[in-house]
Amino acid sequence: MEKKKKITVPCLQAMKASGEKLVMLTAYDYPFARIADQAGVDIILVGDSLGTVVQGRKNTLRVTMEEMLYHTSLVSRAAEHSLVVFDMPFMSYQESLEQARRNAGRAIKESGAEAVKLEGGTNMQKTIEAIVNIDIPVMAHIGLTPQSIHKLGGHKVQGREEAKRRKLLNDAKAVEQAGAFAVVLELLPAELAGEITELLTIPTIGIGSGIDCDGQVLVLHDLLGLYPENRFRFVKQYANLYEQARQAIEQYGEDVRTQKFPDDKHSFFKEEKKDDEKASDHKNRVRHADTLA
Ligand code: KIV
Repeated sequence: MEKKKKITVPCLQAMKASGEKLVMLTAYDYPFARIADQAGVDIILVGDSLGTVVQGRKNTLRVTMEEMLYHTSLVSRAAEHSLVVFDMPFMSYQESLEQARRNAGRAIKESGAEAVKLEGGTNMQKTIEAIVNIDIPVMAHIGLTPQSIHKLGGHKVQGREEAKRRKLLNDAKAVEQAGAFAVVLELLPAELAGEITELLTIPTIGIGSGIDCDGQVLVLHDLLGLYPENRFRFVKQYANLYEQARQAIEQYGEDVRTQKFPDDKHSFFKEEKKDDEKASDHKNRVRHADTLA
């Protein structure tokens, strides 16, 4: 397998300058991070969407620093090519600049992440500055910010009204001025996301925000179809892993119940049999099981 070069924060800036689109995807554990890394994903975000897609909660609010540290360390171990970004969970940076610096520092030191992400625009300008000033790269996140779900009242498109559109333009400028190296635009009208992308020198990464962003991000479990019943309009499902996994597990159950598994190929004997002996012994056993059923 061809070894791809390691993505760093400065690479992302260069990609925006050259018009090369950025690919970001979430992951939460070693096996899927390994697949994403080897598939050439530029940025793996260990999102606090962990709360919903891994922990089965209604929203992201109860995810803790300790949980994020654990999952990010699994992902970091797999990422040879992708840049790993640690999503700061709710109330790990909102209390004070000291708290934000301390937890961003823990994220880098204890999980192996190479950058952190936090939600907010003008309200988080000082926090972003404080973290960037200790040389930790920060990705910002504006628009639909899931940690503000109770204030926003649900997963609604943000910035359709003129006042909100202007606020989002100010948020985008504020996070860039504060030193963020990229910004996630979640659930913005495509025209507004395009306008912000033109206005900023840092890359924009869209989710539900149209084609004109510098890159795109999706939640891994949505892309793979692990929850096919929960489909947001902006999600493109590239596989139906729920169906495939369920069929595989049902088949396994059936094989155990009918004694098709384990066959001789998957068993050990005092003395190894030849392949044709294994096959005929197994056929006899299955025939015997069928007569008992
Ligand atoms: O937590 C997450 O997965 C995210 C992405 C949807 C951007 O914040």
